[in-house]
Amino acid sequence: MNYPSNVRIFEVGARDGLQNEKKMLPTSVKIELIERLVDAGVTAIEAGSFVSPKWVPQMADTADIMEQVARKSGVSYSVLTPNMKGYQGAVAGKADEILIFSAASEAFNQKNINCSIAESLERFEPVVAAAKKDGIRFKASVSCALGSPFGEEIPPSTVADVSKKLYDMGAYEISIADTIGVGTPKQTNKVLQAVADVIPLDAIGVHFHDTYGQGTANILAALQMGISKVDSSVAGLGGCPYAPGATGNVATEDVVYMLNGMGIDCGIDLEKLVKTAWFISDHLGRPPVSSVAKALKGKLV
Ligand code: HMG
Ligand code: MG
Repeated sequence: MNYPSNVRIFEVGARDGLQNEKKMLPTSVKIELIERLVDAGVTAIEAGSFVSPKWVPQMADTADIMEQVARKSGVSYSVLTPNMKGYQGAVAGKADEILIFSAASEAFNQKNINCSIAESLERFEPVVAAAKKDGIRFKASVSCALGSPFGEEIPPSTVADVSKKLYDMGAYEISIADTIGVGTPKQTNKVLQAVADVIPLDAIGVHFHDTYGQGTANILAALQMGISKVDSSVAGLGGCPYAPGATGNVATEDVVYMLNGMGIDCGIDLEKLVKTAWFISDHLGRPPVSSVAKALKGKLV
């Protein structure tokens, strides 16, 4: 097997995680979450999103978070930006990088950002041009790569096509996202292979929601191909408000436990991470969905 020796975890709990929570958390709790994750060793973190507060009210305080969070050198603080207005927020908030996003499902893209796939790529042109001019690097996400909440068939060639367009626009990484968490490992391998045929393997990342409990199995399939960039969310928080039925992202604790057991370094302290999973879950008033956070509770917390 072609396993990488290191994995870079991109922690999405403060954005993908909290964007879908019914309970609105105070800004101070979100900031403490980010600072705890960084203290646990996370070096790439999505701190929030500059989207319409009418669409996603949970992210309305992203500017305050970016202004107030203590920054650690060597850590990349990222925000999701859907358009130029979002990009301006990212610049004002001194984001180290931004996330742009499209999808392999037309129906999802319409629901999520109110435009077609082709229009979304056009809409990102000025964002990309400005980011290049300002020296802000950007990552891009392709949603619904393994299935659509609206029942369409998603051919791997469509995922590859959208990925290639985003890569050609200059994204340093294309994050292949199973938005509704339905994929299984062989399918994951097939889709990632189609993407790897058109862009370099080291530009491919994976983003699995864990709706059907397949997140770590699908990450294993990606690792076996040599992919070393993984998105995950502390406590398994997450979901997309525009993907009916989708639950949280694969939990960072579950991924770190698996990587530790396989001797793959990701630089994250599992004990501090599990404590952080319980910290945020206590604020949300329920236990983490992560098996590892639950298994280690008595031992560590
Ligand atoms: P629209 O209604 O078509 O946009 O929404 P518009 O340009 O007509 O603007 C409408 C209003 O929104 C205006 O305000 C704008 O100023 C405002 P009004 O005049 O009505 O008061 N507006 C904004 N406000 C703040 N920040 C902005 C912004 N842009 C416009 N950036 C829009 C289009 C893209 C804005 C909207 O659809 C939107 O915000 N969508 C975001 C949806 C979202 O955040 N989804 C979740 C993130 S994606 C995800 O989770 C998937 C991922 O995790 C991977 C995976 O798992 O698949 C990445
Ligand atoms: Mg997501």
